Parts: sequence; structure tokens; C-alpha cells
Amino acid sequence: MTDALQSAAIKILKTNDRGSYTVPTKGLYPFQWNWDSCLTALGQRHFDPARALTEIETLFAHQWPCGMVPHIIFHARDDGYFPGPDVWDCGRPVPTSGITQPPVAGFALKRLLDSAPELRTQAGPLVVKITAWHRWFHATRDPQGSGLVAIIHPWESGRDNSVDWDIPFERVPTAGVAPYTRRDTQHADPAHRPTKEQYDRYIWLVERFRGLGWQTDRLHDASPFQVVDPGFNAILIRSCLDLAELAEDFGESALAQENRALADTALAALDTLWSEARGQYLCLDRITGALIDSPSSGGLLTAFAPIPSKHAARIAATIDARGTRFRVASHAPDAAGFDAKRYWRGPIWLVVNYMIADGLSRAGEADAAARIIRSSLDLIRNSGFAEYYDPLTGEPLGGTQFTWTAAMVLEFLLREHVA
Ligand code: DGY
Repeated sequence: MTDALQSAAIKILKTNDRGSYTVPTKGLYPFQWNWDSCLTALGQRHFDPARALTEIETLFAHQWPCGMVPHIIFHARDDGYFPGPDVWDCGRPVPTSGITQPPVAGFALKRLLDSAPELRTQAGPLVVKITAWHRWFHATRDPQGSGLVAIIHPWESGRDNSVDWDIPFERVPTAGVAPYTRRDTQHADPAHRPTKEQYDRYIWLVERFRGLGWQTDRLHDASPFQVVDPGFNAILIRSCLDLAELAEDFGESALAQENRALADTALAALDTLWSEARGQYLCLDRITGALIDSPSSGGLLTAFAPIPSKHAARIAATIDARGTRFRVASHAPDAAGFDAKRYWRGPIWLVVNYMIADGLSRAGEADAAARIIRSSLDLIRNSGFAEYYDPLTGEPLGGTQFTWTAAMVLEFLLREHVA
């Protein structure tokens, strides 16, 4: 069974391979996505480590001169996706989007090189490029020097329609958006996707940023949506720390020090987002200065960074207390806004499970990590390689034959025996 699962996962990774990058899935997402790619490399490392490194290298070949790494690289034309390159209109040699995504690259590169040391010499330039991205985050997304970075578009979080964004999103207008046709709802059940109103706001923000010529140092202050997401910041912290270790090994002590300093400041500031009442971290609406009392998986994913052990233990207990048949739901099932089938408002995503389990196991919460891994593999065995899953029934939802789901399965199978 395990062998069959492994072969099925590898087959999906190969089917979605376009040579030097993978697409998340045919149809719904026909280009290269930033964090999909880096997490996919973790799957590729099990059967072709050199190809895994290429996946990350291809992404960084499209890094902007300012340091930002875009969330989509439009390598080849495909009219099946909206918003395509013409809507973004970023003026890049190979078209890209103009916003970014959770910076998992530093973490992914370290994990890849740990198991494929023969690739180390080739990876030096990536350490420099990933550091430039980390530096860009703090320069442009933390202009007041709080230690934590903000996202300026929900798509940057990767958790597109999370309940977390409902309140800050009310400030984003819908009037004046150019007419458009959604494509996602032609590939997936509209009831499982973001709403039309959310799409209007997504596109309003894109048009706003495009109107500013994609000058990334101007967009934060110009955005009516500025949210500090603890999960996103945890990923950045973890990547900074992992990259610092790599940089040290490469003899780049200035880069190591820079990454470590960014992580240390952010870790200290993260504490301000802890909610004792919820037993997890919460998002901060930077425009109002208020915490957003929304118990999503973003505040659980924070365990991916080396948070205080008492908080890691409490997060493990919070996940247990959610009591869904499968874990980890992207929103607490008893909280307002929960929807078991709608994208990031309840369904389970295996990449989030992977990062939470990884963090909890590093924090000494081995049993909690093992429960997440078991639940993830149960989902796969029952429901196949879906984009996301209903936490109450395990029903597969969204796209099928999903690349990063397959990648996570290869990782989980490795850990199942140690868990
Ligand atoms: C989409 O189009 O659904 C993506 O999540 C945006 O990156």
C-alpha cells in the first residue's frame, strides 16, 4: 500500500512537471506558483534531488531586481486562468504577478541540501537570492520596523479566502473594477471557491497596485489591506533561521547574521499576537491596530517557528480540541464563518499540516505531530490527491492530481515510520 501510494505520488509530480518547473495542477493552475514550487521540491528530492533544486532555481530566475519573488511565473500562455499576465501587466521579461507568497524557500532549500549534500556547491547563489527576498520583506512590508511583515493582498498569504480577511477586506472597494470572467469556477465547484465579492476585491487591489507601476516600496502604504499574519511570519522566521545555518556552512557569516537578526526580532514581536483565550496566535489588522479574533489555521501554523514551548503545547491542545474527524481544519468548526467545503474557510490543506507537524515535532510535541501525519495519510488513502479536504467527512475538494499534495505524501510517508 505504501509503495503504491509512493508510486502514485511520484507519477503526479512527473505528470505536472513542465521540465524546469511544475504546475500545481492542470487546468486550474497552469503556471508556476511560488510556495507550491518550493514545497514540491521537497517531494522531488525523494526521487530526483537535482530536479528539486532546478524547481527552486527556476523560481528565483524570475526574482525582481528589488528582491521580491512573485507568486506566479507565467512561463507559457494559457487562457484557462484569470487573472493572467495582461491583468497584472508587470513589465517583466517573462510575465509574472506583482505580489508575493509565503517565503518557504529558505526552509525548503535547507531540507533539500540536508538530504542531497552533493548539490551544495551549486546552491550558493540561491542563498544570496533568498536573503535578498527576506531583506525585501522587512524593508517594504514593515516600514515602521515592528519586526513583523504585513501582507497587502489575501493571495499573498496563500490562504486566499480565510475568515481572517473578512473584516480588513471590508475596506477594499469593489466599485470601478474592470469587467472580467473568472476561470477558476470552470475548473472547480463554485461552492468550494471564493465568492464573486471576494474576487472583486482581489482584482481591485491588483488594479490599485498596477496603477502605482508595481513600485513595491510604495504598495504597503497604498494598500487598504495590511494584515500581519502570524503563520506567514512564522514561515519567514523559519526560513531566515534555516538560511542562516546554510549561509554559515557556506562561510557567508554576514548573510547568516543578517538572517538571524531578522528572525530574532520577528520572534520577539510574534508574542504580541498570542491569544490565551483562543490558544493560538491571531492576525493583526495593521490599519486599525486591532487583533482579528478569527481562529484559523494561520495562528496554528505559527508553530513552524521556534515559538515558546508553552505556546507549542497549547497549540497542540487547541488542535485536539477542535475535534474534527480529520485534522487540521483551516478554521475552527464552531467559529463564525466556518464552511467545511469552501477553500480556506474550513477545509484541510496538507501543506499546512506538514508545516504544523514539523514545528510541533521540533518543539517536543511528537504525539501531536504523529496524529496530524496519520490523519493526513488517512485522507490520502481514503480520498486521493486532492487540493483540499472536508475536515468533517474527508471528501476530496478543489483540483485533483495536486502537485504539492503528492509532494507532502512523500514527506509524510518518510515520517510515518518515525512518528
Ligand atoms: C488563485 O488564483 O486561486 C490563486 O490562489 C491566487 O494565487
